[in-house]
Amino acid sequence: MKRKKISEIISSQLFGTEVLVKGWVRTKRGNKQINFVALNDGSTIHNLQIVIEVDKFEESDLKRVVTGASISIKGKLFESMGSGQNIELHASELLIIGECDVNEYPLQPKKHSLEFLREIAHLRFRTSTFSAIARIRHSMIYAVHHFFSSKGFVNIHTPIITSSDAEGAGEMFRVTTLDLEKLPRNEVGLVDYSKDFFGKSTNLTVSGQLEGELAAMALSDIYTFGPTFRAENSNTSRHLAEFWMIEPEMAFYELEDNMDLAEEFLKYLIKYALDNCNDDLQFLSKRLIEEESGKKVEERAMELMQKLNFVLINEFERLTYSEAIKILKNCKANKNGQFKYVIEGFGSDLQSEHERYLVEKHFKKPVILTDYPKSIKAFYMKQNDDGETVRAMDILFPQIGEIVGGSQREENYEKLIARMKEVNIPVNEMWWYLDTRRFGSVPHSGFGLGFERFMLFVTGMNNIRDVIPFPRTPLNANF
Ligand code: 4AD
Ligand code: MG
Repeated sequence: MKRKKISEIISSQLFGTEVLVKGWVRTKRGNKQINFVALNDGSTIHNLQIVIEVDKFEESDLKRVVTGASISIKGKLFESMGSGQNIELHASELLIIGECDVNEYPLQPKKHSLEFLREIAHLRFRTSTFSAIARIRHSMIYAVHHFFSSKGFVNIHTPIITSSDAEGAGEMFRVTTLDLEKLPRNEVGLVDYSKDFFGKSTNLTVSGQLEGELAAMALSDIYTFGPTFRAENSNTSRHLAEFWMIEPEMAFYELEDNMDLAEEFLKYLIKYALDNCNDDLQFLSKRLIEEESGKKVEERAMELMQKLNFVLINEFERLTYSEAIKILKNCKANKNGQFKYVIEGFGSDLQSEHERYLVEKHFKKPVILTDYPKSIKAFYMKQNDDGETVRAMDILFPQIGEIVGGSQREENYEKLIARMKEVNIPVNEMWWYLDTRRFGSVPHSGFGLGFERFMLFVTGMNNIRDVIPFPRTPLNANF
């Protein structure tokens, strides 16, 4: 008999039919006559209730049906009288596939803290919370590809090992095969990278954008969805050293078009989650309510479904950085010293506390800020005529702060090269990037969505370490 997944059994409601299921035991309870086993196979948040009449089975087998063990069960499906489920499987055959030593198994049938579960990330998929997040993450990956594919965008794999620093921020992990104990040196004593694997110094990419731009200059609309690496030493609940980013790049798009696409994209993903991940979202919503119940009413996060719908129905507020600075400079929080970083005026970089103030307190909806000072943005952004600002756009979300960063790109060869020289980007090494501005240059724009930041938002989780299976953060690269 072919194994059936629990998701299919629960949705099909095939009462009276015989099925074979396989999975892991979540809990077992009961008495001398009858045992109830909650079985989960990861296909759904729901467990299948297995009813076992004790005298039909070997005692030695039943003893091995414990939390964590993997089992195979054949039996008939019945309508359930018990609360909590409407279908149950009455077992006729039972096979222990893999035993589990309950004294050693760290996942007891009780609530574990997220901190503890991070230490056993190899097992945390077996909890309801982490399997729900994994399924939602999968659905969101699928929705990303679906969204762009349906609009005729071409997915481009950009390199993971590069020799350029796309963001010019210098937060890179070096890639080398040189022997760190015996580094080759040149005449002036510097490390001689001509002896390295690629004959030059290389690093893990911080963004696929620059290569994405090359492809957009022929294919018009492209997107990348790849891992990116940043060696910024920020141990926050919003930063990872390895994260996934979606970066569309569109020829003939100006900043307005870019904002429209980003807003449509985010709303599409949220709608997709609401339409396709309902059971998992309902579970996470209940989880969040429990979590927040300890807090004061005014400090509690918005209920998850409500929050998702809220973003869906509201138009994002669009304003310039300078307008935002005026609001922030004059707000009570700034004057009373409630912000950790005081907003002095034009030129101040926005921290997530400021971004969240604008979104959560002032506008009470997602915000798109444009036209940032060039001094706090990357070299490739299109320069405005004022000589001070660039055509940047950041999208700010409740709970998260910056979720998207993007811009219209500088398509003018002279202006781009001048800016690169100003901020010490090695112009010679970037000849290939500059070539696009020499051969049929066009206005173009793009943005980057941090996938884990988005996952934080859609799952209502609070720490970015909990929405990627195996987080990489400073001093942590386990598993
Ligand atoms: O704003 P960023 O640095 O922009 C870029 O990399 C551009 N090349 C994107 C583009 O225009 N194609 O990063 C984009 C997004 C941020 O808004 C944030 O959501 C996420 O990537 N991000 C991080 N997510 C997790 N951990 C980190 N350390 C992150 N750094 C950025
Ligand atoms: Mg940014």
